[in-house]
Amino acid sequence: EHRVLSGMQPSADSLHLGNYVGALLHWVKAQDTYDAFFFIPDLHGITVPHEPEELRTRTRNTAAQYIAGGIDVERSTLFVQSHVPEHAQLAWVLTCITGMGEASRMTQFKDKSAKQGADHAGVGLLTYPMLMAADILLYQPDGVPVGEDQKQHVELARNLAQRFNHRFGETFRVPEPFIPEIGARVYDLQQPTAKMSKSAESPNGLLNIMDTDKKIAKKIKSAVTDDGTEIRFDPETKPGVSNLLSIFSAVTDRSVETLEAEYAGSMYGHLKVDLAEAVVAAVGPVRDRALELLDDPAQLDALLATGAAKARATAAPVLAEVYRKVGFLPAS
Ligand code: TYM
Repeated sequence: EHRVLSGMQPSADSLHLGNYVGALLHWVKAQDTYDAFFFIPDLHGITVPHEPEELRTRTRNTAAQYIAGGIDVERSTLFVQSHVPEHAQLAWVLTCITGMGEASRMTQFKDKSAKQGADHAGVGLLTYPMLMAADILLYQPDGVPVGEDQKQHVELARNLAQRFNHRFGETFRVPEPFIPEIGARVYDLQQPTAKMSKSAESPNGLLNIMDTDKKIAKKIKSAVTDDGTEIRFDPETKPGVSNLLSIFSAVTDRSVETLEAEYAGSMYGHLKVDLAEAVVAAVGPVRDRALELLDDPAQLDALLATGAAKARATAAPVLAEVYRKVGFLPAS
């Protein structure tokens, strides 16, 4: 059976609309055709300074949002990265076949380390993509459904898989990035040329799926639009309106062309009112269900424990093969 794997960092109390539209929506659909593995990369969550108690809470909250968004733990494997020690173990091996140059060329490393000041940034930011490659390669997936910003990391995972196979013999499947046509890059509502991210300059630019309906509607209504009045998809000259149309398309499963035709001659305000309604209809129930799930943390933790056991059953033999191939003496 064909397989996919993906994850989102537990770095905020809520996933944002970019995570939802660029990733989670596609994960949910992928479950119909793929054997799917979804996890919460908490090891990645300590590559920047963090609060331990907050990380614990956010890891569980993220799991609740996955399930509320439609990840079905009966069909798919849902787990926490640190529960499966093979991730860190394989990451070390991959780190040792990665060049300093290729690691330091990763754009996310350059951005994040620049933000912290080159000398203060932890080495974990540099080795982050090798850990991500380990996350992926341990499960031999065909595809990795991610937004556009993670493409470079998936490319690195492909290169490392090929390099390992070449040096030590055929071991890893070389995965493809699965990037959606619509919504692979959701932009900040206040600054529609910057991607939506939790480090948004203005809180109004960032739409969290755990926001109240009222807040969601307010943020969409105050979204920056463009000069002129025409509702047309043209990211070059109309980044604001184009972003709204992409989001609208992604959450309603209607094409951008259909929406353009429907809103031809309408005012921006009209589009925003309808979009706010569509986004609330899509993510409101996800938020409410996530809150319900969080009422019973013990039950969530039990689901995650079951998921970790399933994940390990897949990951452990792959790691064992890697250990043997690189020449580690068997422990028994
Ligand atoms: P993260 O946590 O930054 O983002 C999670 C997912 O959301 C997508 N995404 C977006 N899509 C569209 N528009 C946006 N503005 C937007 N912002 C984020 C991301 O592309 C991603 O799919 N390194 C990864 C986590 C990770 C991972 C993995 C992913 C760790 N190991 C293995 C896949 C496979 C990350 O930080 O994503």
